[in-house]
Amino acid sequence: MPDKIDHLLEDVETFPPSAEFVAASPVPADLYERAEADRLGFWADQARELHWHTPFTETLDWSGAPIARWFGDGELNVAYNCVDRHVAAGNGDRIAIHWEGEPGDTRTITYADLLGEVKRAANMLESLGVTAGDVVAIYLPMIPETVIAMLACARIGAVHSVIFGGFSADSIRQRVEDASAKLVITSDGSIRKGKVLALKNTVDEALSKGAASVKHVLVVKRADNEVALQKGRDLWWHDEIAQVSDEHVAKPFPSEHPLFILYTSGTTGKPKGLLHTSGGYLTQTAYTHRVAFDLRPEEDVFWCSADVGWVTGHSYLVYGPLANGATQVMYEGTPDTPDLGRWFKIIQDYKVTIFYTAPTAIRSYMKAGRQIPAKYDLSSLRVLGSVGEPINPEAWLWYREVIGGGRTPIVDTWWQTETGAHMIAPIPSQVALKPGAAQRPIPGIVVEVVDDDGNRVDPGQMGLLTICEPWPSMARGIYGDPERFADTYWSRFPGVYFAGDGAGVDRDGELWLLGRVDDVMNVSGHRLSTTEIESSLVDHEFVAEAAVVGAKDETTGQAVVAFVVLKRSKSEEAAAVDTPQVLRRHVADDIGAFARPREVYLVDELPKTRSGKIMRRLLRDAADGKQIGDTATLTDASVMATIQAGMTSGA
Ligand code: WTA
Repeated sequence: MPDKIDHLLEDVETFPPSAEFVAASPVPADLYERAEADRLGFWADQARELHWHTPFTETLDWSGAPIARWFGDGELNVAYNCVDRHVAAGNGDRIAIHWEGEPGDTRTITYADLLGEVKRAANMLESLGVTAGDVVAIYLPMIPETVIAMLACARIGAVHSVIFGGFSADSIRQRVEDASAKLVITSDGSIRKGKVLALKNTVDEALSKGAASVKHVLVVKRADNEVALQKGRDLWWHDEIAQVSDEHVAKPFPSEHPLFILYTSGTTGKPKGLLHTSGGYLTQTAYTHRVAFDLRPEEDVFWCSADVGWVTGHSYLVYGPLANGATQVMYEGTPDTPDLGRWFKIIQDYKVTIFYTAPTAIRSYMKAGRQIPAKYDLSSLRVLGSVGEPINPEAWLWYREVIGGGRTPIVDTWWQTETGAHMIAPIPSQVALKPGAAQRPIPGIVVEVVDDDGNRVDPGQMGLLTICEPWPSMARGIYGDPERFADTYWSRFPGVYFAGDGAGVDRDGELWLLGRVDDVMNVSGHRLSTTEIESSLVDHEFVAEAAVVGAKDETTGQAVVAFVVLKRSKSEEAAAVDTPQVLRRHVADDIGAFARPREVYLVDELPKTRSGKIMRRLLRDAADGKQIGDTATLTDASVMATIQAGMTSGA
């Protein structure tokens, strides 16, 4: 775990909200008290901010724990809540999405426009035989059609499974097969750094090896890239959508109707498809988006820089902001095209008021220098958010001073794919902010930091983060594998949710998140499993054994470092090529470029305990260039010395 213990005992400088910020805040001042006084009543009130076709009478049913039912007898339509009701309330002219493509092309989409598109897309999906409960895989870049496709699924009760555009063909096939997706929506290409990535070709490759459940592939034209359409299976989105009516009535679905599946890495090799449902998920994403960001939907321009392929994009680019009728920015490309000023230019051009990004991005800008943001007018910003990994106090302070002009609150938000929405984050109008800490559970959430035996730790100590009470946006299991959900999250401390993260409690009783305590790595805010990368390496014909660790990295938080033992029989072949390079490329092809190891070290042996367990802790120390920890339990203590000698000589 990172060494944050100092902050738990020291005085740190805090940043209380300014009087003007408090006075102008739309967030009720008694939020913490209300939630504390009547937790379930508080959540029911948040849920009533949505439009229910059939109002609920029951708030929580926990009798089927750990699968919760929230607002279980109510009925709603998620897409109606995100689009129709804003138009019905007279806000059809409000801009929902300011979209900007990487080459500089733009689209301005009002709520009325979005409604038309979503209705047509819903009709199109129905015309292709998609019905409620069917799974639709979405492998698209950051373009408006991605949001439209997700909302169209929600509108007809189909379940979307968005696959991040950086995933490989094998990863797509695995996900499509796991959920028996009927339809895949993709595009002719994705534009990154001025180049076209041929997404449709990757889908073709994925489907050529299996995935027999897929009846159709819908292809959005984005990159003017030539694609081959397979007769009977593949269709152009623009051709199909031109043929359907623009009338579509949103039918109500039960609160617990599935909304989406999203795969994430766990501690085993196989990604988990977390299942989220409708009423509770939408309640908590909308509520947290309002209170954590101090949202004023009529005035704010919100921008979440995350890709829609990750949970942050689902909750704070699609469902939260749209349920709140907010105006937001969606940007297709990379931050450094044509240069590192791109994001700041977007903030300036659209007068973004709330900006939500990851510490990795902030740290890379710190490295590049403040002269880059200094060229732009960032004075529209009033709230800044951080997500995905612990934010170090230095990055927090830099973010506030250089991007936020020394004025803006920085809201550090801790949550997970499994939790669906923010769980720990300070309410900026009500909390004096501490650089580097997420500080408090949001009102309505109950957490505890415990020791290995499940006892609450004292202020000034570190421990494991648990969530003690069910919450509305919690996952309703792992798709197709109910036991794995109970085992993974609910068995370490019976009856409470174990997040897999370490946390410290400072002497004021406030929380500092410290990162994962299991074999999950966090690279640039992307979750990666050590086991999954190890399996990929072992799949390569040269490799006998592999151990992967998350080493410290100044910019990306952690970086993938692999230690590999080659097969004797392949030593000649391996010596003839640049094997570390070959293996790095192999992992990138197998899983996706974002999983490519930063380094691959070839070693003769891996450090193991007498029972044969690889001691990753020692390898992590070696990768971090640290003094090697206790080697007493190793079968052969000289193994680590040999490995380290090899690393310094550049072997
Ligand atoms: C980490 C992303 C510290 C954490 C929303 C968690 C954080 C994992 C923070 C979930 C934060 C996320 N401070 N760590 N503010 N936010 N994490 O599922 O280790 O991609 O378990 O969800 O990211 O990653 P996931």
